Amino acid sequence: MSQYTKEIEKRRTFAIISHPDAGKTTLTEKFLLYGGAINLAGSVKGKATARHAVSDWMEIEKERGISVTSSVLQFHYDDYCINILDTPGHQDFSEDTYRTLMAADSAVMVIDGSKGVEAQTRKLFKVCVMRHIPIFTFINKMDRDANDTFELLDEIEKELGIATCPINWPIGSGKNFRGVYDRNTRKVLTFSDTQKGTKEGVEEEISVDDSRLDEVISQEQKEQLLEEIELLDGASAEFDQEQVSQGKLSPVFFGSALTNFGVETFLKHFLKMTTSPLPRLADCGVVDPMEEDFSAFVFKIQANMNKNHRDRIAFMRICSGKFEASREVYHVQGEKKMRLSQPQQLMAQDRHVVEEAYAGDIIGVFDPGIFSIGDTVCAPGKKFAYEGIPTFAPEHFARVRQMDTMKRKQFVKGINQIAQEGAIQIFQEFNTGMEEIIVGVVGVLQFDVLKYRLKNEYNVEILLENLPYEHIRWIENKDEVDVRRLTGTSDMKKVTDLKGNPLLLFINSWSVGMTLDRNEGLVLSEFSRN
Ligand code: G4P
Repeated sequence: MSQYTKEIEKRRTFAIISHPDAGKTTLTEKFLLYGGAINLAGSVKGKATARHAVSDWMEIEKERGISVTSSVLQFHYDDYCINILDTPGHQDFSEDTYRTLMAADSAVMVIDGSKGVEAQTRKLFKVCVMRHIPIFTFINKMDRDANDTFELLDEIEKELGIATCPINWPIGSGKNFRGVYDRNTRKVLTFSDTQKGTKEGVEEEISVDDSRLDEVISQEQKEQLLEEIELLDGASAEFDQEQVSQGKLSPVFFGSALTNFGVETFLKHFLKMTTSPLPRLADCGVVDPMEEDFSAFVFKIQANMNKNHRDRIAFMRICSGKFEASREVYHVQGEKKMRLSQPQQLMAQDRHVVEEAYAGDIIGVFDPGIFSIGDTVCAPGKKFAYEGIPTFAPEHFARVRQMDTMKRKQFVKGINQIAQEGAIQIFQEFNTGMEEIIVGVVGVLQFDVLKYRLKNEYNVEILLENLPYEHIRWIENKDEVDVRRLTGTSDMKKVTDLKGNPLLLFINSWSVGMTLDRNEGLVLSEFSRN
């Protein structure tokens, strides 16, 4: 195997999703600890520090205690080169999660053992399923009283509609947590309190048939374990790599990220079961990651990662070949040859400039405002585009009014830039020549973000007047339809998006059907594909 093939083979790129507070940040930190990317877990003061480093520009995150932006981290473990894509924990930002998942080859879902499947896990999980990527489950906080293990698995299967296959099995929880039993090796990994992960744990692997186990777990617990194993072997789905790869079966692991327990075991298994960079679909066919020519697509644009620099970073997932900073690339949508400016990667809490990177890696490049989400960058001479990232249909709409009309220019600039980043969608009245702007968002919290950012970054104050529309449809066959003559229902509003595409807003869902009935040949879509 050539060095080049080896580099790509050893890459693992995955997203991590959870309901806020389930332990995503803690688990990520422990991964970094094992990868040697940070020294002592105790020195990283939980999420506050981690979040401060990647997105301190947004006070909203701190105020609300939720992460609304995603970040990327790279570290090495064993022979693997791992790229973790963090996702916002709040469902109002599930569109951002979807884009991030487009850049991932698999997902890790963190669940709080005492809470089970929570509202936002459900929504984010649905987004995962749309991508058909392997999903791994880490049931966290076993050092706290957890729900019954069978019930937890049942809940995942029923609520999320995915089969589960426990790779290990917990022995007790809370004060009675004694460790996990590995179903494959039939060994128990014993739990010892690491004082919130600051002390190295003394973990032991003891065969379930070894009498030494009796010193660690009570007779009652042992009997229960044996009973549960028997039940499990008879009832649960068998591990099937093919099913896992297709996202139909989720391997489940138990542990306690805070105390470091079960994290390394999970990481080891997970790295074997998940995939190296996957081929990607483009308009020229499937592009293999091992292909020599460099190619990548933009999945995220983020402004003001660093307050002092007012910069805008476009995040790209490299899909094939090797990126070399010194070489020119071709930006397909911009139809321009260029050098990517200040390419960088995030390593633990530092950003550093990269000279080279391989398929599977994520790089951030300085964006002077030329990239849009979904854009393709490839080797000069090649000209193809990766399949687009669909725009989610906004579910909430508001009319934007500017408080100080003198600042029109800043306002237009700000709102357009924020829309380009994909945080909001903006629409204008169709053909009326009015300058009124309507904003559409997937989650209402995005309205707050818009207000906050316009004020803080562009010094523009706005008023938002909520509109009752809930349903949006793009006109698929816009070239065949005379939009001015469309006759709809009284609640229908005609608008255009940033690219000038016509679309319709409705208050009631039945109006959509009614409008289709009244206009023969009209084709409507919930997504914008261009
Ligand atoms: P998130 O990124 O999914 O939102 O969760 P995060 O890791 O920030 O964890 C949320 C809270 O849960 C934190 O406590 C964290 O210490 C705690 N936690 C994470 N994993 C475990 C675990 O395995 N066991 C227990 N008992 N707790 C866990 P916090 O009080 O909100 O923050 P902090 O002050 O401890 O940082």
